Amino acid sequence: MSTKTTIRIQRFNPDKDKKPYFDEFVIEPTPDTTVLDALHMVKADQDGSVTFRRSCRHAICGSCAMNVNGSNMLVCKTPLRSVTDKKGVVTIRPLPYLPIIKDLVVDRSSFWKQYQRVKPWLIAPDDVPEQEFRVSPEEVKALNDAETCIMCGACYSSCQVIAMNKEYIGPHALLKAFLRVLDPRDTAPAERLADLAGYDGVYRCHTIFNCIDACPKGLNPTQAIETLRKLAQRRLAFEEERKARQQTIKEPISV
Ligand code: F3S
Repeated sequence: MSTKTTIRIQRFNPDKDKKPYFDEFVIEPTPDTTVLDALHMVKADQDGSVTFRRSCRHAICGSCAMNVNGSNMLVCKTPLRSVTDKKGVVTIRPLPYLPIIKDLVVDRSSFWKQYQRVKPWLIAPDDVPEQEFRVSPEEVKALNDAETCIMCGACYSSCQVIAMNKEYIGPHALLKAFLRVLDPRDTAPAERLADLAGYDGVYRCHTIFNCIDACPKGLNPTQAIETLRKLAQRRLAFEEERKARQQTIKEPISV
């Protein structure tokens, strides 16, 4: 890696620019510099107007998802040298298919709207136990992926269905819906599945798989969508199975 790296940043200020353009900044990274560090170096030393979102710097908050050399990723966990090309250049754009607020900051309103739509909260039984629900290790394991999602938007903005149709629920929200539908504590799987099976739900997914490639946590929204499709076809039977499971969910698990 050369001692200098050129950071190409897509710039756009809707108050004065007609269309996006690129600015280039040359920095001297260390072997440990991340893409986010590089953006901070540019902002601190060369142009304070470069605008981007970030928060935790530990791949937990999901704020810093951006498009680097054509792929969506979390820039805080991406070493700069891993994305520097042979000419010593890294190109950073905002997440695709979303309205740009400024430079690398996008408007995620449609992302959050779809998240709210799937009711990502638990609809618990009326008789919540005094102590805890007894969920089996197998049930927990099935939900692990969906729990791990940090809502960064990398999958959402890589999906070409979203590019065409913002009414599609999207891989992020369908993964959260999967979490609630499969959660043995939840009492409304049939109602949830009826909504997910609608015009802009699970059948709108074209199994493009971009969401899997984009996920910085290695999750598989496509598999969750496939499971939801199967369950949607037998949602009333699934609800009966859930009711039966809830008879036992407050009892100790037999091992
Ligand atoms: Fe989109 Fe992923 Fe389906 S990229 S079309 S949600 S497989």
